[in-house]
Amino acid sequence: MTNFKFIQMADPQVGMFARFSGLEPSEISRFQERMMNVKSAPSFSGVEPERENLTAALQQFEEIDPAFVVVCGDMVNEFDDKDQLALIRNTLGKYGETTPIHWVPGNHDIGVDNLTPDRDSVAAYRSEFGHDYYTFKYDESKFIVLNSVLLDRPENVPDEHLRQMDFLGDTLRSRDSRDSEHVVAFMHHPLFLRNAEESDSGYDWAPSPPSQPSGYWTVPLERRSPVVKLLREARVKTVFAGHMHRNHIASDNGLDVVVTSALGYPLGDDPSGYRVVDVSGGALSHRFVAL
Ligand SMILES: [Fe+2]
Repeated sequence: MTNFKFIQMADPQVGMFARFSGLEPSEISRFQERMMNVKSAPSFSGVEPERENLTAALQQFEEIDPAFVVVCGDMVNEFDDKDQLALIRNTLGKYGETTPIHWVPGNHDIGVDNLTPDRDSVAAYRSEFGHDYYTFKYDESKFIVLNSVLLDRPENVPDEHLRQMDFLGDTLRSRDSRDSEHVVAFMHHPLFLRNAEESDSGYDWAPSPPSQPSGYWTVPLERRSPVVKLLREARVKTVFAGHMHRNHIASDNGLDVVVTSALGYPLGDDPSGYRVVDVSGGALSHRFVAL
């Protein structure tokens, strides 16, 4: 049994600072009314703010020397933007040549219109980042990456959703998982925001972005419940996520959903940053680090 650290980050979302620049005051208030801390900024294009954040993070990682890095989705704001993808490749991708990087798909990476995957968007994601759900081992622990965009909106690729559910069941029931010291899951969307049984219409306290239906920030109950059941049966204690661009922790009966603020554009009170997860024997602890 050894001790190790890894980094969990989410939403570098290259291109989002530019997307949220130059907004009219009325647009900014539409976001702020929905608790999204969009700030007034002069219009610009490009990826400079994200380049600065990614560069700062990678510098800090040298000191931390993590065993691996998990990027919990929304690597870019627009998946068809070559400059955005190139920045990810030239920063995190390069870092991945010496320290393993594990990618997790976000709605901006694998969803058409940043929401709903289809056959082509899934194929495009896989050719850029590799498989969208998979496991890896480190030391005596097992790590499961899930494609939560399929859980959120499976309608155009229902077979992919069913395959992922079979994969999750098989993985969690395997001897290897049962024998692992920790089994930890990663996904882009938080599995739930307060408790595992919350309904899809009960998110007045976590309003969706303008023109999005209620429940934008999490996985719908119908497809959440079977995942929660499998995770509980396998005694999984922690699911790391992103998507909200703010720190948030929801605990329900021994299952923690740990949401990490964005490495890119923050939407809550927390600044841009990442999480350091410390695995020391039987214990797993984590702390958010601001850039
Ligand atoms: Fe995001």
